Amino acid sequence: MKLQDLQENWNKFGEQDPLWGILAWPDKSQNRWEIDAFFATGVAEIEEVLAYLERLDVQVAREAALDFGCGVGRLTQALAPHFRVVHGVDISPAMLALAEQYNRFGDRCRYHLNEADDLGLFADGSFDFIYSNITLQHMPPRFARAYLLEFLRVLRPGGVLVFQIPSAPRQKWRLLLQPLKPTRLWRLYRRLRYNDRPVMEMYCIPKARVLRLLRAHGARVVDVQPDTSADAAWISYRYCVTR
Ligand SMILES: C[S@@+](CC[C@H](N)C(=O)[O-])C[C@H]1O[C@@H](n2cnc3c(N)ncnc32)[C@H](O)[C@@H]1O
Repeated sequence: MKLQDLQENWNKFGEQDPLWGILAWPDKSQNRWEIDAFFATGVAEIEEVLAYLERLDVQVAREAALDFGCGVGRLTQALAPHFRVVHGVDISPAMLALAEQYNRFGDRCRYHLNEADDLGLFADGSFDFIYSNITLQHMPPRFARAYLLEFLRVLRPGGVLVFQIPSAPRQKWRLLLQPLKPTRLWRLYRRLRYNDRPVMEMYCIPKARVLRLLRAHGARVVDVQPDTSADAAWISYRYCVTR
């Protein structure tokens, strides 16, 4: 699978049902999210994340933050009151067009289209805080691994990275599908079955492998917690990392 296929799929969500593509609550499909309620979930989530860091006694400088896979800015907007500047990055132009439309913080929230499997648009050590939730789970692991290493590169020394990714499916048979999903055959099946509708694909990286990758690249893993933001069919974790 190429990054372009991922982009095409997410752009369809952005065009057809963006808020449900982001938070797929069963009663909110077909554009039934009410916008204030949707953005309120972001505020609650960021408050919870900052309280979590406080409990861990992890200090975060409040200069620059990155929200990777920002969608329409649900979390970027919620981060903005806590940082001097917040950058939201996404692969979908349609999602980003809405993010710009919903931006209430002017220049303090900057949105970027990134069509690459790296974060070359940012210099080393650009961010005090990087947050990525319910995003790495939607891409083949080789992309998620590449972005994780990029997070470490663009994180300032002493900066904090918090991200979520599933470790395994609760039903083991789902694991058999993972290597199939990035193939042409699977995409053909998807096109025949779903026609023009986007599909919410899920992927995982085992926790042990994530930890090995982070540590091999100089990260200090502060905490790992079970996480419930992925679909209940997956065992998922939140990682808190510094460098
Ligand atoms: C489920 S949504 C989550 C959005 C946001 N993190 C939130 O919780 O509100 C996943 C987002 O990741 C974006 N995405 C998927 N692959 C990406 C990639 N390779 N680079 C940047 N964004 C990506 C999608 O376009 C989509 O907006």
